[in-house]
Amino acid sequence: MSIEKFIEGIPKAELHLHIEGTFEPELMFEIAKRNNKKIKYTTVDELKNAYSFNNLQEFLDIYYAGANVLIEEQDFYDLTWAYLTKVHEQNVEHVEIFFDPQTHTDRGISFDTVINGIYKALQDGEKKLGITNVLIMSFLRHLDESSAFETLQQALPFKEWIGGVGLDSSEVGNPPSKFERVFAKAREEDFTPVAHAGEEGPAEYIWEALDLLHVARIDHGNRCLDDEVLVEKLAALQMPLTLCPLSNLELKVITDLKNHPILKMMDKNLLVTVNSDDPAYFGGYMNENYWGIAQALDLSKKQITELVKNSFKASWLPDTEKEKKL
Ligand code: HPA
Ligand code: ZN
Repeated sequence: MSIEKFIEGIPKAELHLHIEGTFEPELMFEIAKRNNKKIKYTTVDELKNAYSFNNLQEFLDIYYAGANVLIEEQDFYDLTWAYLTKVHEQNVEHVEIFFDPQTHTDRGISFDTVINGIYKALQDGEKKLGITNVLIMSFLRHLDESSAFETLQQALPFKEWIGGVGLDSSEVGNPPSKFERVFAKAREEDFTPVAHAGEEGPAEYIWEALDLLHVARIDHGNRCLDDEVLVEKLAALQMPLTLCPLSNLELKVITDLKNHPILKMMDKNLLVTVNSDDPAYFGGYMNENYWGIAQALDLSKKQITELVKNSFKASWLPDTEKEKKL
């Protein structure tokens, strides 16, 4: 069996996925039309041509602009349902997905509208497609602490629907320490904490995520390789790193998939996983991410299997469910 078919067939889990980053241009135009919202580009092709980024910020500017057309609960449902049906075709069986409430509440959309739409689609995904899920609420780190606190407050009535809190958006200049108090409160309220760290920011931000936010996973974490002591600590803790190969390539974190550090990280006994981050913007969902690194790094089926198992191991599935997948 070819490595491509092997990757397609193996049941997978996704642990690093921004639901707003799954907004495909075709659906964006459809939703914009029904909401009478303008898009800066006149055709799907013109929009797709704008997807060329030199860094994280250039991507974020386009990603937030795209999310502007999402207004009604049905829009959030359709966005989430489209993602679930897509990954169902790719044999993804479990997803842990981020949503960015502030991207919407700052535009006057209510927290309830956003979460109701996403949650109902996730419920249907479980019932109709058999995809289990966890929802993670992510704070935008370029905004201030009080906005994050306000968002946490809005989330409390929906605690049963939200498994964790995360930290995303513009990394450099917005270290985890900025949100130490918000994360302390979130942990008190039983949300499991994760944070993007070491994507563009330094290894020091990964230390802060561990020591100050007490995270259960690091999202990205590429820059840990700059600090040997940190690598040893992450390996000893078996702290999961949610890597995103195509994202790294598109945001120029790496220059070529052949330089992707995933193999080096496996050699150092780090618990690394493969994920798609923002698949509508970076040219691929789960299978495309696995294919990309498998080809560039000449991965064996055994290595692919290990990576897939890592994802289930690092997931927040109950232990009994996890065992069935390993
Ligand atoms: N990094 C930070 N923030 C994000 C990303 C990312 O890769 N994707 C969506 N928001
Ligand atoms: Zn991300």
